[in-house]
Amino acid sequence: MSTLPAAKLPLPELAAMKRRGEKIVMVTAYDMPGARFAEDAGIDMILVGDSAAMVVLGYEGTTVPVTMEEMLILTRTVARAAYRPVVVADMPFGSYQVSDEDAVRNAIRFVKEAGADMVKLEGAGPMLSRVRAIVDAGIPTVGHIGLTPQTATALGGFRTQGKSADAAVGLVEDALALQAAGASLLVLEAVPGPVAREITQRLTIPTIGIGAGAECDGQVLVYHDLLGLSEGHLPRFVKRYANLSRDIRDALEAYAAEVRDGTFPGPEHAYAMDAEERAAFEVAVSRATPR
Ligand code: KIV
Repeated sequence: MSTLPAAKLPLPELAAMKRRGEKIVMVTAYDMPGARFAEDAGIDMILVGDSAAMVVLGYEGTTVPVTMEEMLILTRTVARAAYRPVVVADMPFGSYQVSDEDAVRNAIRFVKEAGADMVKLEGAGPMLSRVRAIVDAGIPTVGHIGLTPQTATALGGFRTQGKSADAAVGLVEDALALQAAGASLLVLEAVPGPVAREITQRLTIPTIGIGAGAECDGQVLVYHDLLGLSEGHLPRFVKRYANLSRDIRDALEAYAAEVRDGTFPGPEHAYAMDAEERAAFEVAVSRATPR
């Protein structure tokens, strides 16, 4: 009997979850094991984030350099492995800023070549027409405001946004404008809880918070951060649910030590040979290639 893969979570279900007050769970993933673990854990949405730049591709402290081609490979890998979770591809810096046409062309690549269900892009203002254009092309779109890492330099670094009353009102306006432009979901990153709460109450589309308090419609964390695979300073909003880098280091050190002292591989890891065949082999090999 074959087990059929789980059916994809229908996108309208996300807004229905908001209406029912059920939290939406999103996590980032960049490869097949990550996608499978997320699926098995019952995660609703997987974001193939451009955080990949920092957590898997080795670009130090910035998401800016990651390319379309890199993001397409990661998204395709995740989309092949995830059945039920909605897969969101993060559009990398430079793939949508130049024009609506560029944005639509690249969004289509994520859907057509990589199997993404939705795309995400950062910002409001000039990006509203990008969102409108992508949605008009039939691609469900996720907005992202607050701390927008692709433009962190312009924001003065990786800092909390919307801390003053004026800036907070600006975020509410941006959120409403993104919803009006057709976004189906909104990520709120590093904004004070009361601001995220106000936005969440005013929107009919779900909000997904990261460092935006408990009153968003859902939450997202970076896979490597929550599993303890990223090292160095972590933002205050990260909760570590495991310490996998310690476990991986311990395991690799044990492996290296056992290879060096000859403990690994043991007889249980080797393939035996039938005694008769072995004896015949020894005779045959010494005849064929005498020492
Ligand atoms: O790239 C990413 O992982 C993200 C999340 C932090 C929301 O954009």
